[in-house]
Amino acid sequence: MATKNKSNDLHDENLMDHDYDGIGELDNPPPLWIMAMFYITIGFSILYGAYYFWLKQGDHQDAEYAKRSEKHDEKFKLNQPSTGEVVLLTDAASIDEGKTIYKEMNCFACHGMNGEGNAIGPNLADEFWLHGCKIQDVVNVIKNGVPAKGMTPFKAQLSDDKIQKVSSYILSLKGSNPANAKAAQGEKCN
Ligand code: HEC
Repeated sequence: MATKNKSNDLHDENLMDHDYDGIGELDNPPPLWIMAMFYITIGFSILYGAYYFWLKQGDHQDAEYAKRSEKHDEKFKLNQPSTGEVVLLTDAASIDEGKTIYKEMNCFACHGMNGEGNAIGPNLADEFWLHGCKIQDVVNVIKNGVPAKGMTPFKAQLSDDKIQKVSSYILSLKGSNPANAKAAQGEKCN
């Protein structure tokens, strides 16, 4: 501060040697930490410029976005068109995978560990169905859900392929008679 203690003294060692109509200038350098930050930002901008612009190593926004979307689509396979008629899978590997999906997607929270049903969702292991027992019916319910009744739509979270597998798993439960089975709901259907 120019008005305080020794800075007030015109013979101050910080006084620069020009003088305009008796007005002098004090040379007060900014504190070291500000200068350090200043030089660090310059250093950073050189590295940043080199990485993204001169050496073209880093991805710019568009490329980064495209890469990320690709990864996302790959993960959820959302861009795969539906393949028309769905067929029931009966091979052990697909049923097994369906079972894993059933667990991973928390279907058990509403339908029980073994599809026996619970207070929320219906029994999936009996012969009675609210929305039909054909593979296509089951696929449709899982895809589009029954939001008004509390069944989540899964089309945004599961690929058609995975929905086909989890549907096949569910249909494979028929006759498994799980413990604590929930009372039948809907129409009998074989
Ligand atoms: C938040 C609870 C909830 C979750 C999670 C859930 N469901 Fe459901 N689900 C329901 C309810 C409730 C119904 C009954 C809808 C109705 O009454 O129309 C239902 C119905 C169904 C039906 C039709 C049953 C019938 O009798 O026609 C199928 C198939 C089904 N769910 C499969 C699944 C699968 C597979 C998953 C996991 C990917 C799943 N559900 C996750 C609550 C849930």
